[in-house]
Amino acid sequence: MNTIISPSILSADFANLERDVKRIEDSGADWVHVDVMDGHFVPNITIGVPVVKSLKKITNLPLDVHLMIENPDKYIEPFAKAGADILTFHYESLCYEPSYYGHSELDSESSILQIINKIHSFGIKAGISIKPKTQAQVLLPFLDKVDMVLVMTVEPGFGGQEFMEDCAEKIKFIKENSKDDLIIQVDGGINDKTALICKSYGANSLVAGSYIYKSSNISEAIKSLK
Ligand code: DX5
Ligand code: ZN
Repeated sequence: MNTIISPSILSADFANLERDVKRIEDSGADWVHVDVMDGHFVPNITIGVPVVKSLKKITNLPLDVHLMIENPDKYIEPFAKAGADILTFHYESLCYEPSYYGHSELDSESSILQIINKIHSFGIKAGISIKPKTQAQVLLPFLDKVDMVLVMTVEPGFGGQEFMEDCAEKIKFIKENSKDDLIIQVDGGINDKTALICKSYGANSLVAGSYIYKSSNISEAIKSLK
C-alpha cells in the first residue's frame, strides 16, 4: 500500500480555503484532512459541517474528517451527509469511566461498536483515534471492525506541536494485531524525518499540517513524506 498523505487544512488560510485545497490537490495529496474541534473535547474550536459541505463542492479528493468532539454519535449523520468519506472519532470521547454517569466499561465498548456501524451505514470509512496517553491495547476489540486507526503523536487541539516518538511506537502493536488492509494513520508533528520513523513502525497514512503548508514547495513536501 502506498502511503496515503492527508494534508491538514488546519494550517491553511481559511480566507482562501478553496485556493489552499487546490494547492494540495495539484501537488499530489491523496486526501484532505479536516480537523473538527468543539472546545470541549479539546481546548480549541475550528470548523464544522457547513465547511465540509462546501469543501465537497470544490475538491474530488476524499475528505478525511477527524472529529475531536464530545458526543460524536450525534454528528455522524450530518458529517456523512455533508460529504465526509472517512469519519474518525476518538476512543476517549466514548470511553466512560466505570460507573461515571451510570455507564459501565461494557457500555463503552458497545457504544463504540454502534458508532462504527453507524458510520458504515452511510457507506463511508470508519476510523478510531487514540490520544497520546491512551494505550493501544484498548483498540483490540475494534481492530477488525474499523477501516482506519489514527494514532495521535501530539495532544490533539493545535497544529505545529512537537512529535512524540513514544506514541508512534504504538503503531507496532496495532500492526501486529490487525488485518493487512487496516489503514494506520499518524497525526501530529509529521515532517520528512518523523514520517520515516512512523513508516518504519508500519504507518501507511500520514497527516501533516504545518510541514506542508509552511513549505515553499508543497509538491516536494508531499513527495518527501511518501
Ligand atoms: C491536531 C490536529 C492535526 C494538526 C496537525 O490536533 O489533529 O491534524 O493539524 O498539525 P501539524 O502537522 O502541524 O502537527
Ligand atoms: Zn487531525
